[in-house]
Amino acid sequence: MPPSTRIRNTLATAVRVVLVAVTALALSLTTVPPAQAAGGGPSISKKHFGTLSNGKKIDVYTLRNSGGMRVKILTYGGILQSIEVPGSGGEFANVTLGFDNLSDYVKKSPYFGCITGRYANRVAKGRFTLDGKRYRLAANDGPNHLHGGVKGFDKRIWKAEPFKRHDSVGLVLTYTSPDGEEGYPGTLRTKVVYTLTGDNRIRMDYRATTSRPTIVNLTNHAYFNLRGEGNGRILGHELQINASRYTPVDKTLIPTGRIARLGGTPLDFREPTAIGERIDSRNQQMVRGGGYDHNYVLDSRGQGLEVAARVVEPDSGRVLEVITDQPGLQFYSGNFLDGTLRGTGGRSYPKRSGFALESQHFPDSPNRKNFPSTVLRPGDVYRTTTIYAFSTV
Ligand code: BGC
Repeated sequence: MPPSTRIRNTLATAVRVVLVAVTALALSLTTVPPAQAAGGGPSISKKHFGTLSNGKKIDVYTLRNSGGMRVKILTYGGILQSIEVPGSGGEFANVTLGFDNLSDYVKKSPYFGCITGRYANRVAKGRFTLDGKRYRLAANDGPNHLHGGVKGFDKRIWKAEPFKRHDSVGLVLTYTSPDGEEGYPGTLRTKVVYTLTGDNRIRMDYRATTSRPTIVNLTNHAYFNLRGEGNGRILGHELQINASRYTPVDKTLIPTGRIARLGGTPLDFREPTAIGERIDSRNQQMVRGGGYDHNYVLDSRGQGLEVAARVVEPDSGRVLEVITDQPGLQFYSGNFLDGTLRGTGGRSYPKRSGFALESQHFPDSPNRKNFPSTVLRPGDVYRTTTIYAFSTV
């Protein structure tokens, strides 16, 4: 090769190296979350998430709105696996606890993000009587029935139909629970519609019908950490709950039947208060719950959808509002998390690193005549809506 050509080649290589270095630097300075980078209108896509031991395949749907908020939903349990929302500086974080693989959901999940049913929360000793007939449900939480039993709605495979509207996207999930499943009477046809709106809301519309008189109480069991999952405890989150009464519990977390005033107790969140401020109080109810694990009787005005709770995380500026038409809200401060679970981002979940706000009917209503009824009869339609609304301060 003549020397002039060698010099030209060397120069060309040097220019290429500099160009690559400059491009890499520019890219590293302008890193944007993938959700934002994609641009454009709302979208929904499907991918394989995992395979159950019986060979059944589970999908994950990714919903995205035009602002870049992204929500991932599994056909297993209708689980909200990931919820990416912006903070006040525009930075996105996944604010819900979860796993990055199916096997952990099957084996270890403390109800992360799932549709919870047929009866969310507890039924004392798993027993109830309806129209003079006695029914027996599994005792899967000490002596009591919890969240639908051994294989509740959180562990079922839901049929999924995606849809797209002008500025929202969603997923229609359906599951038919056969008569007698987990001890519940009646074939229950269930539909849950998740909608991600353009204004950063996840709307959940529940519908169910039955072939025989039964009980039903559906909710979603997402755990939140508005700092981002795996990013420490939730004790600094400021919580407000629009309730002046609650249902005190016995040692096994079953309501005593009383509807008591919250005023003067560490459970009163009518004024915004940090979750950690009174959590270690020696108040008997707090000791029984190991922290907060109580049903709040919402001060609703009976006008359909109302704000039940508002949570502000001061460092990130992220805000969550829970809006519902339900009479109750379980506030659970993640007391049973113990650091043994490793979450979506690879970090462990210590005690109180996530909280749940579960819109619902009161626990053990089937055994309490003074609580609003959870009975569903053939010909009637169970319908309820809850919204997780995200914003920033
Ligand atoms: C209950 C907790 C329970 C948790 C299970 C909550 O709804 O109130 O007592 O431990 O679910 O993850």
